[in-house]
Amino acid sequence: MERKTVKVGFLGMGTVGSGTLRILEMNREQVAVKAGSEIEVKKILVRNPEKQRDVDVSLELLTTDPAEVLQDPEIDLVIEVMGGTEEARRYIEEALKQKKYVITANKDLMAAAGSELLLQARECRRNIYYEASVGGGIPLIRPLKHSLGANKIIRIMGIINGTTNYILTRMSLYNMDFEGALAEAQEKGFAEQDPSSDLEGRDAAYKLSILAGLAFNSRIHIGDVYTEGISGISKRDIFYASELGFAVKLLAIGEELPGGLALRVHPTLIPRTHPLAAVHNENNALYVVGNAVGEVMFYGLGAGAMPTGSSVVADLIDAARNINYGIEDGIMEIDFQDKAVVPVEELLSSFYLRLQAEDQPGVFAALATAFGEDKVSLDMIIQKRSTEGVAEIVLVTHAVEERFFYRALDRIKAFPTTRKINSVFRVIEK
Ligand SMILES: NC(=O)c1ccc[n+]([C@@H]2O[C@H](COP(=O)([O-])OP(=O)(O)OC[C@H]3O[C@@H](n4cnc5c(N)ncnc54)[C@H](OP(=O)(O)O)[C@@H]3O)[C@@H](O)[C@H]2O)c1
Repeated sequence: MERKTVKVGFLGMGTVGSGTLRILEMNREQVAVKAGSEIEVKKILVRNPEKQRDVDVSLELLTTDPAEVLQDPEIDLVIEVMGGTEEARRYIEEALKQKKYVITANKDLMAAAGSELLLQARECRRNIYYEASVGGGIPLIRPLKHSLGANKIIRIMGIINGTTNYILTRMSLYNMDFEGALAEAQEKGFAEQDPSSDLEGRDAAYKLSILAGLAFNSRIHIGDVYTEGISGISKRDIFYASELGFAVKLLAIGEELPGGLALRVHPTLIPRTHPLAAVHNENNALYVVGNAVGEVMFYGLGAGAMPTGSSVVADLIDAARNINYGIEDGIMEIDFQDKAVVPVEELLSSFYLRLQAEDQPGVFAALATAFGEDKVSLDMIIQKRSTEGVAEIVLVTHAVEERFFYRALDRIKAFPTTRKINSVFRVIEK
């Protein structure tokens, strides 16, 4: 069978685009063997062709006119690495209409409109590949779709935002405060100038909604992911957590419970012996529990030009094989169902609480009673220190329905002896 050179158009040539292009040059032969034909980059859409780039690109390849990529009948495949949602969506829709395969690294778009776009892809008898959208270079999409397909997935738990993991690592291993760690992350290029999407947990929520969709065969609405960021975490909490045997991580957790799916992103105390506790700096990891495979963990760099490019090129090989050999595994996401989502108030969690109270006899007993009235039992309670008549108290509860914990906490807030509730975090025991 004669195989044609697969012609590719890029939408964007920034960090991820450059990494992708570099890998295509570096591993040209191997990619061609795996893909079943040569790959030729035919056109690249950018905003500013004059801009200095991290990779050598001939000026003739660059264009500012999307039609030169989308309407060119010779282009088989479009790689969207420009980011944003509105234009990127329009361009992907147009590419599919023009019967092109699509590869994207765009988690925001796949989380918000993945279902509709994949449906359109099926109608157009094409496909969208999106391994690079979550976990950079770590294979996550394919394992959840294929390699673990035999399992009923019970739980996924991940560190899927490198910026926040970098900050929390610097705070816990190097005793830095939040602001210092954030400034360092920005200096090293791990955090954007506007880091709010990372710090507030939105980036992790987008990624969780993509992963949980695949893990639980369900269409996930981003609004169903309970999301809390890391800005409330202080050095002191990290210190106390460590004394109690825990690491503090921003975890994205998806579970299938009898009542429905539980989806949440929040700072979490995890035992220092948990494999996720050893995931430091900008690294990412996803820990998956399946009913046949048991526990599996995927680990590596969750962003960056070359790791993310590695995932884009892997998709490119798959798509090219599809074009060359007509091998297609179908778009299984279309068959996903809508599943009930359990509200966070009804989930079982253990809690870490740090508060300041007047240093008087009976304060511990009053706390225990307030919790006891809502059947919240305490695992540990420690008075950390007392200065000028104010005691700092740290406690950890056993697992309880969240609404009962918060009802007890409301009562504790109203105690005349309570000075301040400093922090509340969830704790995962295993
Ligand atoms: N960076 C990572 O490590 C990483 C990891 C995983 C996923 N992603 C995702 O990958 C995508 C790209 O990220 P990136 O970091 O590579 O972005 P980037 O460095 O900002 O590059 C964006 C590229 O797209 C071009 N572009 C943007 N808007 C355009 C428009 N309206 N018309 C024409 N060209 C446009 C830019 O052109 P100019 O060069 O002329 O400005 C630039 O080349 C995003 O969806 C991101 O979330 C990134």
